[in-house]
Amino acid sequence: MKSIVLFASGSGSNVENIVQFFQNKTNVTIACVLTNKRDAKVLDRCNRLNINALYFNRNAFSKTDAVLKVLESFNPDLIVLAGFLWKIPKNLIQAFPKKIINIHPALLPKYGGKGMYGDYVHAAIKENKETETGITIHYVNENYDEGAIIQQEKVEILSNDTVPEIAEKVHNLEYEHFPRVIEKLLLEQ
Ligand code: GAR
Repeated sequence: MKSIVLFASGSGSNVENIVQFFQNKTNVTIACVLTNKRDAKVLDRCNRLNINALYFNRNAFSKTDAVLKVLESFNPDLIVLAGFLWKIPKNLIQAFPKKIINIHPALLPKYGGKGMYGDYVHAAIKENKETETGITIHYVNENYDEGAIIQQEKVEILSNDTVPEIAEKVHNLEYEHFPRVIEKLLLEQ
């Protein structure tokens, strides 16, 4: 049995999609969802889906080993950032080499880095009249959006696509590919 821990900061639609994908698979379990937002919508989803969820604050995350201890207690095979917006501190990177992955809503290295998340990414892409965007699933290192790329998927943007329409296209790519990449990485271990 493989186990994963998910991190999320907001709505958690990717978390819900991943939970549903693995629901009927007996070889993977979602040990817990961790969030840095006390009122994040992802907590409502976890409640409804019967998934363990824990909240932590900035101090616990960046200045102590509290989150590290929680993660060690779950002994996860993979730690998945699914819409998580804080930089991962050194203690976690060192404790889980090649075990932390992130999804970014653009084709890295373009449109990455601090402040580039969610609709800010899609708005920048629209502003620059890009003709394609996509998703990047990558390993996490100490810098935002810079770890080794695992998989990228592209989608075309039409000149009249709105920011919400671009966001929807990207979300659909995420829903289709992210759970499958997670499953593949778990099977390869
Ligand atoms: C997703 O599109 C994810 O790629 C993005 O946040 C969204 C979360 O949506 N992540 C980043 O921007 C990380 N830099 P969700 O909460 O509905 O899953």
